[in-house]
Amino acid sequence: MDVNNVLVVGAGAMGRQIAMLCALSGRNVALVDVDAGMLTTAEQELRSRIGRNVEKGRLAQEQMDAAFGRMRMTTSLEEGAADADFLIEAIVEKVDVKRDLLSKVDKILPPHAIIATNSSTIVSSRLADATSRPDRVCNMHFFNPALVMKCVEVLGNPETSEETIETTVALTKSIGKSPVLLRQEISGFVANRLLAGIQDEAVSLYEKGIASVADIDTAAREALGHPMGPFELMDMTGIDVNFYVRTARFEESRDEAQKPKRAVVEKFERGELGRKTGVGWYRYDSAGKKLGP
Ligand code: 3HC
Repeated sequence: MDVNNVLVVGAGAMGRQIAMLCALSGRNVALVDVDAGMLTTAEQELRSRIGRNVEKGRLAQEQMDAAFGRMRMTTSLEEGAADADFLIEAIVEKVDVKRDLLSKVDKILPPHAIIATNSSTIVSSRLADATSRPDRVCNMHFFNPALVMKCVEVLGNPETSEETIETTVALTKSIGKSPVLLRQEISGFVANRLLAGIQDEAVSLYEKGIASVADIDTAAREALGHPMGPFELMDMTGIDVNFYVRTARFEESRDEAQKPKRAVVEKFERGELGRKTGVGWYRYDSAGKKLGP
């Protein structure tokens, strides 16, 4: 199926960059958020990030202008959904909120449109029956920062059609990403299951007082060649995301080992969520630059 018009719902850190990737690939994109302020922030951030690509000679000014020209930012779900071939949902990681949105948007989207969720924890079988088209619902999971990270995990639920998976994989490739296809649903998918092991060990070493946050990050970077240490990464993706993801995995499995770690819960309760709040495992200035522990 050809995907010409994409609707992205949720203009947070992930949604806005996913929308831009689709616009850069030549598609018309509607980026919808309930919060007009979030759309303004999204546009500012994207203009600055994509502008840097122009400054560095990687993208022509006309290509950037054309991509922004193909992108509509609106608070009206109705306007964004009317002609969409493909929806990517990137709203808050709460199953009830996602189900409400999908049930509402299902009634407005054209019948052929595919609904993909960028959720990192909620498999699409928990959402599909909120729509009238479970065969057209799947997970399409991007990584942060979406403009940079090449991997996108794609997985269907037992009712997802082959055509839905093929279209999602083709869209993934056409926006310059490498699809990783999961053959069955599993909470955490592949990459986040690998990451959880690293983050758990890092927090546990810190809680036991074995080494400082900064030194554990140095070990991950300098001994293992990771681009960021596990604490730096949590600050970038959001400590709240770690908290919600691990809480959801505990609730699903009832396995105590899946619970968020004590130090993560403490940060979450204090509202120290990482770069976006200026404090997480490290402190940041208003531009998101790391100031120190
Ligand atoms: N958004 C978009 N682009 C960004 C960015 C952001 N938030 N942060 C950095 N970049 C871009 C920069 O503009 C720069 O682009 P350029 O080379 O084209 O000019 C490039 O990334 C490199 O940036 P920097 O030189 O400033 O810094 P680094 O070399 O340290 O790279 C990084 C930054 C790409 C974020 C790198 O540190 C990295 O790959 N970190 C690991 C990220 C990771 O593991 N992500 C997965 C998280 S898990 C997840 O997302 C799952 C979800 O379910 C929570």
